[in-house]
Amino acid sequence: MAFKRIREDISAYMDRDPAARSGFEIILCYPGFHALVGYRLSHWLWLKGFRLLARFIAHVFKIITAIEIHPGATIGNRFVIDHGTGVVIGETSEIGNDVTIYHAVTLGGVAPSVDSASQVGAKRHPTLQDDVIVGSGAAVLGPIVIGTGARVGANSVVTKEVPPGVTAVGIPAKVLMPKDREKAREFQAYGTPTDGPDPVVQTIDALRGQVKALISRIEQLEDGPKSDDTVEDRKEQA
Ligand SMILES: CC(C)(COP(=O)(O)OP(=O)(O)OC[C@H]1O[C@@H](n2cnc3c(N)ncnc32)[C@H](O)[C@@H]1OP(=O)(O)O)[C@@H](O)C(=O)NCCC(=O)NCCS
Repeated sequence: MAFKRIREDISAYMDRDPAARSGFEIILCYPGFHALVGYRLSHWLWLKGFRLLARFIAHVFKIITAIEIHPGATIGNRFVIDHGTGVVIGETSEIGNDVTIYHAVTLGGVAPSVDSASQVGAKRHPTLQDDVIVGSGAAVLGPIVIGTGARVGANSVVTKEVPPGVTAVGIPAKVLMPKDREKAREFQAYGTPTDGPDPVVQTIDALRGQVKALISRIEQLEDGPKSDDTVEDRKEQA
């Protein structure tokens, strides 16, 4: 069960990070993956009631990875933290399946009660539903819901609910309606659709144009200069 989950996590990195080349690379070089393994262990201990040990293990993984995930947070399958440095995920955060976040993202709380003891265990942090993407440096604050498939722009600050399938950007974050709803549902690295022409196709088209020009030039040369061509005509053909 645990190994199946880890295999799924690795293939999620392969699918979503264009820089990932192999499973071994992810196991060895991805702090987001290391933090997730640490979280799975600390969360298990947290649920078993070994809360101090769970916090300590989370702290050790924070020193190693620069990613802080509270063991009380609830995280679904195939969660990808790309790059990862500076990520903070608070105690009562809930994260669905297939969620992607980038470095320096904060899933934090706001406005603690005057009586902080009454806040212990209360829902203070956001819920990210399935397929959400949160850009680098964004802060999602408070017990709000970011709906399925929504995207949060880099460096945005979100303090209000974000409906499913939309993009929220800015400080404070405002919702943009997606230009293409189908595209918004597919995963795109960095949350950014690539609507421009495919660069490979562009290169092939340019090469085909050059080959065509060369063929017609060769045909011209093979025909040779006509006897009635003037010197000027020959210069032009050359
Ligand atoms: C939010 C995001 C997903 C939107 O991508 P998109 O659908 O291609 O949107 P566009 O680039 O067409 O932008 C739409 C509008 O939002 C604005 N916008 C986009 N991202 C923004 C951001 N992070 N903050 C503020 N405004 C932003 C654009 O300027 C544009 O405004 P305009 O309509 O007035 O011109 C993308 O910009 C983003 O921030 N992705 C995260 C990237 C990231 O974290 N990379 C780190 C990888 S290491």
